[in-house]
Amino acid sequence: MRAAEAPRAFVARRSSRAPRAPRAPSSESARSSLAARLEPLDWDALERSLWERGWAKTERPVLTPDECAELVALYADDARFRSRVDMERFRFGVGEYKYFADPLPPLVQDLREGAYPRLAAVANAWAKALGERRRFPPTLRVFQAACRKAGQAKPTPLLLRYEIGGYNCLHQDLYGEIAFPLQLTCVLSRRGADYTGGDFLLVEQRPRQQSRGEAIALEQGEIIIFTVRERPVKGARGYYRAAMRHGVSRLLSGTRTSLGVIFHDAR
Ligand SMILES: [Fe+2]
Repeated sequence: MRAAEAPRAFVARRSSRAPRAPRAPSSESARSSLAARLEPLDWDALERSLWERGWAKTERPVLTPDECAELVALYADDARFRSRVDMERFRFGVGEYKYFADPLPPLVQDLREGAYPRLAAVANAWAKALGERRRFPPTLRVFQAACRKAGQAKPTPLLLRYEIGGYNCLHQDLYGEIAFPLQLTCVLSRRGADYTGGDFLLVEQRPRQQSRGEAIALEQGEIIIFTVRERPVKGARGYYRAAMRHGVSRLLSGTRTSLGVIFHDAR
C-alpha cells in the first residue's frame, strides 16, 4: 500500500509572471466540450469490462493532443502543485509525481466531475454485490463533502513523470478512511514517439490463487479506468473480493507524462 502523501510538501510559489498568452484552441472551449465527449463513450462496454476485468479502456482518445500538451506543459509550473514526490526516495519506483493544488486545472476538474457519476453507479453496484451497506452519492461535490468531513480535503489528482529506466511499483492509491473504488489514468505522451516501454500494469490477487497480471499499452489521450483496491468476482456462492494493484513497467526510452485522477481526497 502506498503512503499517500509527500512528507516534504513544497510551498506553491505564486509567481509574478505575466499572464499566459491564450493558446489555440482555448482551454475554455476544450473544457466545454469535455463533458460532451464523455457522454457518447460506450459506457455499457466500459462497465462490462470493469465487471469482467476490474479495468476498462476508452475505445478512443478522450483528451486531444493539444489538451495533453497543455497538461504536460503545466508540469514545470510549481505554482500549480501542492506537493512533489521523488518516487525513488520512498522506494515507490523511479520517477516523480506532483499533486495538483486547488483549484485544479479546468480540464482535470471537468474530467473528474464528469466521470464521477457514471463510476459512482458502478461503485454502488459493486458495493451491493459485495454485500456492503455503504453507497456513494451521485455527484462528486457531495462525495467530496464526505471526504472533507473525514479529514480528507487535499486534492489527489496528479501528474506523473518517468524518464528512461523509470517505473512505478505495484500499489494502491489510498489516502484515508474514505476510498472511492475506481480511479482513472490518461497518458499524455505519445507511445512510440515520446517514449517506449512504460506499459500500464495491473495485477489481480484472488484468494488462494496465484496473481494474474496484465500489461496495457495506452495511446495518448486514452483513458483507463481501474479498481483502486478490490473488485467483486462472481464465484459459485455469490461475489467475493479480488485485490488489485497497479503500476507502470520500465521505460525503455524517452519521457512519459501521465495524468492520474483519484476521486477521494487526501488527509
Ligand atoms: Fe497509482
